[in-house]
Amino acid sequence: MRRKVTKAIFPVAGLGTRFLPATKSIPKEIMTLVDRPLIQYAIDEARAAGIKEFIFVTSRGKGALEDYFDINPTLEASLRRSGKDDLLEILKNTNMESGAIAYIRQHKALGLGHAVWCARRLIANEPFAVILPDDVIAAETPVLQQMVEAYEDTGGAMVAAMEVPKDKASAYGVLDVAEDMGALVRVKGMVEKPKPGEAPSNLAVIGRYILTPKVLQNISKVRTGAGGEIQLTDAIAEEIVEGRDVFGYRFRGQRFDCGSKAGFLQATVAFALARDDLRDEFIDYIEELLALRKAAQ
Ligand code: G1P
Repeated sequence: MRRKVTKAIFPVAGLGTRFLPATKSIPKEIMTLVDRPLIQYAIDEARAAGIKEFIFVTSRGKGALEDYFDINPTLEASLRRSGKDDLLEILKNTNMESGAIAYIRQHKALGLGHAVWCARRLIANEPFAVILPDDVIAAETPVLQQMVEAYEDTGGAMVAAMEVPKDKASAYGVLDVAEDMGALVRVKGMVEKPKPGEAPSNLAVIGRYILTPKVLQNISKVRTGAGGEIQLTDAIAEEIVEGRDVFGYRFRGQRFDCGSKAGFLQATVAFALARDDLRDEFIDYIEELLALRKAAQ
């Protein structure tokens, strides 16, 4: 029997400069899609996949994240007094079991690979997941769960993958495909942020990974890569060089790049439209906007 994936790393040390000035005082992972912070979507997805230990790689100024997952006794007492059981129920989802969360600091911004490496002692000798909270994926079956199920058959290392337009490939880690099996692809190489025209395919890595402890060892070996950073992609590619399996998994779901303003806004609209309590009013508003725009043309 393959060892179950029960640990997940959430790299949340980034400065979020694309969202300044908001991120001057709040971590970008606390920014909300409708009424839930980005990080809550990531945690819910991890829980659905059977994750029991949540490891946050943080940095200075991320205290609000720790508070978010803590019980707020004053708030809860006040809601209880006023009989607001529905709101208490919503809060329940944000409380984590004692000891389920660990916070590790990345002292220097040396890249995603380095952030993951900072958690190596907590991972020890087990397979683990990595979730990048910027990549929010709306899916009937949460994507990490889809991957854990696929991993039961494949083992090895696995990255979520999605086709992107060729001219956008330079923004991603890109897979060099050895064998295309449909949802799964066997990978023979990976390039982080390839130069325009040099991408080996248009199959891009999206921020969900299932990795082995071996990848953590590779991180200490790989050199500084794209953007002068220690890249997780390079450490995974090293697995292939050493003859171990790496798979890409074409997930079922819609991915939003919440690390960019346009992606964040698209996610906001999509998640609002998915909500029974907001949909009708929101559609009316959008229709009104479109009508005004048409009239002005
Ligand atoms: C990171 C990874 C990259 C991946 C991307 C997905 O890049 O390094 O391989 O394709 O996430 O969102 P970043 O967006 O942090 O530059």
